[in-house]
Amino acid sequence: MANDTNRFQAIISHCKEYGFIFPSSEIYDGLQAVYDYGQMGAELKKNIKDYWWKSMTQLSDENIVGIDAAIFMHPTTWKASGHVDNFNDPMIDNKDSKKRYRVDHLIEGFAEEQSATGNEQLAKDTLTAMDALIAKDDFAGLKKLIEDNKIKCAISGTCNWTDIRQFNLMFSTEFGNTVSSDGEDNKIYLRPETAQGIFVNFLNVQKTGRMKIPFGIAQIGKAFRNEIVARQFVFRMREFEQMEMQFFIRPGTQKEWYEKWKSTRLDWHKSLGMPADKYKFHNHVKLAHYADAACDIEFEFPIGFKELEGIHSRTDFDLKQHQEYSKKKMQYFDNDVDPETGKPFGNYIPYVIETSIGLDRMFLAVMSQAYTEEDLSTEEKKDERVVLKFPAKLAPIKMAVLPLTKKDGLPEIAEKIIADCKSQFRCFYEEKDSIGKRYRRMDALGTPFCVTVDHQSKEDNTVTIRHRDSMEQERIPIDKLKEIVLNAIA
Ligand code: GAP
Repeated sequence: MANDTNRFQAIISHCKEYGFIFPSSEIYDGLQAVYDYGQMGAELKKNIKDYWWKSMTQLSDENIVGIDAAIFMHPTTWKASGHVDNFNDPMIDNKDSKKRYRVDHLIEGFAEEQSATGNEQLAKDTLTAMDALIAKDDFAGLKKLIEDNKIKCAISGTCNWTDIRQFNLMFSTEFGNTVSSDGEDNKIYLRPETAQGIFVNFLNVQKTGRMKIPFGIAQIGKAFRNEIVARQFVFRMREFEQMEMQFFIRPGTQKEWYEKWKSTRLDWHKSLGMPADKYKFHNHVKLAHYADAACDIEFEFPIGFKELEGIHSRTDFDLKQHQEYSKKKMQYFDNDVDPETGKPFGNYIPYVIETSIGLDRMFLAVMSQAYTEEDLSTEEKKDERVVLKFPAKLAPIKMAVLPLTKKDGLPEIAEKIIADCKSQFRCFYEEKDSIGKRYRRMDALGTPFCVTVDHQSKEDNTVTIRHRDSMEQERIPIDKLKEIVLNAIA
């Protein structure tokens, strides 16, 4: 499936209807590219976070610890990191509609249209030409590419373009309550990546944690970017969350660690049962200002293969820059013996391999993979269902307990089951509507197990457990329930 707009729209509607994602401040008509997670979405998002955090810190074969740095950072951080000067995207404005576009997105959109209408070769050639021009920062060449292909603005329908200019993506605000005459002193940025909170704390963590290289620092947190083209639901937002890990290594070992982290991260995705053929690596043609190698792990979203996670070999760029700007040494003393010289490796600024995944994009990947429309029609009657086939460990609700009727002591048995299980996993009680309707609602929320309490439960302490994906039901003793669910979410 290359670009399935209908499916993407269906997923967006489902997220809204079932309390996963709402447009931000919707009563005021929303805020572009900003979203709120609802009662189901917040649970799913938290489960993804917990799975990442646990894999990175507790379960990793490497020595990795987690931190939680502030969103506000000293403004010099962003001068040192290069974001003030380099965190730009080439933009172009349409003079008629006044609409601004990111140049690569405009050209990619054209290429997608061409490939959808059978002009594969033109799409390929255009993208190859674009990559080469971007790599050379050749803005005149990029504008010519847009004009030669008669790429139009989607709003005005014209090719009346301005020249291409760079546009910084950082948001800024004022810090404190005194503004200097030039207005600059109090200017502070909302972090565009969480990584810098890790770099500036490198020595704090290394020393207080007695960390020995190689080691990693992981973090989950909000990041902010003034994205220009932001119309792909939670794929590209202005306020989003990142799960990043900086792995500090000895200089010269970066190639080997880069390859290792590429495969470790791909394995993490597969460990969730995500199909291997939905993933591919995309090597960066134009490297960011800090990298000596970089690639994306792309996922096949309903809008096509797109970046889900980045693996970057960031050299010693960031620590070196912070050393220069802060005048504080960012060195590590390595007393392991170098086999070539027979002496300790000694002092150096570590190199860094970074893994950086967008939490919201991972949410969208999980949701896109889970969303299934099933035709259940038989000869007798038409029937269908929408089911979210989440991995059980990520599902917002693990077990719904449904008394067949609201009386005869059945609700009490259901409540007792919940009381016994709720400290270990999220349960849900529902007594309204027919049992069939309740099953369908739980399917639409992605609940892997529905437990029905009926009159037989009173006689022999058994219940029916229904499995979401197969819809199979089995009769089991109540005291086996917890074990079944715990095994499935382990
Ligand atoms: N520290 C490196 C860094 O920030 P990046 O490739 O710019 O690298 C890493 O971002 C990841 O963050 C991306 O792979 C993507 O999943 C996520 N991301 C970036 N911009 C985003 C946005 N505007 N909305 C949602 N997720 C975004």
